[in-house]
Amino acid sequence: MDRVPIGWAVAVSGALAAGALHAGEPAPERRAQLVEMVRQDCGSCHGLTLKGGLGPSLLPSALGDKDAVSLQYTILDGRRGTAMPPWRPFMGEDEALWIAHTLKNGLPERERK
Ligand code: HEC
Repeated sequence: MDRVPIGWAVAVSGALAAGALHAGEPAPERRAQLVEMVRQDCGSCHGLTLKGGLGPSLLPSALGDKDAVSLQYTILDGRRGTAMPPWRPFMGEDEALWIAHTLKNGLPERERK
């Protein structure tokens, strides 16, 4: 009996494809940490409700039309000559892109774990 049942093979390759689609999205625990970090650390400049303070608003009304990848690099590398610091030491590139997309769509109050 060395034949793999066809249904099983399809289920496994389906699961692999679904996994690949989600590559780049942080795991739920990490997403919760990142949301917390944006509220606390980013909020200290961008306002606790992210509607702006020392830094500009990070709400969808402000970021909706902006390019996610350029926001990703602003988050990773900061903006030289401004108060916006680089966050590269604290997060991966995929995580910064996830934050950029999440801000454009509206940061949840907290991410479900
Ligand atoms: C010490 C203050 C400070 C902190 C902390 C801070 N920022 Fe900023 N941020 C700024 C300032 C000031 C600007 C505007 C820079 C400029 O003039 O271009 C900015 C700009 C940005 C922009 C670009 C907005 C746009 O409209 O182009 C994004 C995105 C951003 N910050 C995200 C974040 C995130 C995410 C965090 C936390 C991980 C964070 N910032 C933490 C001060 C801060």
